[in-house]
Amino acid sequence: MAKNLAGKFITLEGSEGSGKSTQSALLEKYLKDKGYSVLLLREPGGVSISENIRSMLLNVKNTAMSKECETLLYMAARAQLVEEIIRPALEKRTIVICDRFLDSTLVYQGYGHGIDLKLIECVGEFATQGIKPDLTFLFDIDSAQGLSRIQRAKDRIELRSLDYHNRVRQGYLALAKKEPKRIKVINVNESKEKIFEKVKSHVDRVL
Ligand SMILES: Nc1ncnc2c1ncn2[C@@H]1O[C@H](COP(=O)(O)OP(=O)(O)OP(=O)(O)O)[C@@H](O)[C@H]1O
Ligand SMILES: [Mg+2]
Repeated sequence: MAKNLAGKFITLEGSEGSGKSTQSALLEKYLKDKGYSVLLLREPGGVSISENIRSMLLNVKNTAMSKECETLLYMAARAQLVEEIIRPALEKRTIVICDRFLDSTLVYQGYGHGIDLKLIECVGEFATQGIKPDLTFLFDIDSAQGLSRIQRAKDRIELRSLDYHNRVRQGYLALAKKEPKRIKVINVNESKEKIFEKVKSHVDRVL
């Protein structure tokens, strides 16, 4: 939980093309219409320094990037976003919606690349200043189906093998099993509207 912070912190997770950005935008509108102060952010990015790190991470030319460097760059982008935006916003009772957060590093670099999960948790605690989401959605999609939904040019991570993406999916499901109270698994084989009904019911419960 976002300890001692007045706002609520909601994150959206899931493989490529699972509908995170679609549902984030619907959630932002829903909460704003209800009169809440809401901030929608994306990871990696959200602030200038972190967006610069994002370009490095997603640039298809960076084929030489090691998994250790990749892990720390994701954490660095996150650390800046937390300090510059997320913590101050939560202190001001804002509802912060974040499209990806620490769980992404646990699955993409941990389950996907074999980086030690304990180490990611430890560096993650440092990068996030111990701030944890109050509620996390996991949009679960078949990896190949998710990748096929992406129409634009694929980035450095999206270009990885189907095996890699399957490990990511299984990693997400393992995390959800470990933390069922925080992480709500949503099956995405339904209309955007039907999926949002489910999202809304969980969000209403934590507000
Ligand atoms: N429930 C749905 N059914 C069918 N298509 C959907 C659904 N939700 C989203 N889409 C479409 O799938 C594509 C990917 O959705 P979206 O961009 O929201 O996913 P994402 O998880 O943010 O993807 P990325 O990993 O690229 O950021 C978009 O074209 C979107 O319109
Ligand atoms: Mg997206």
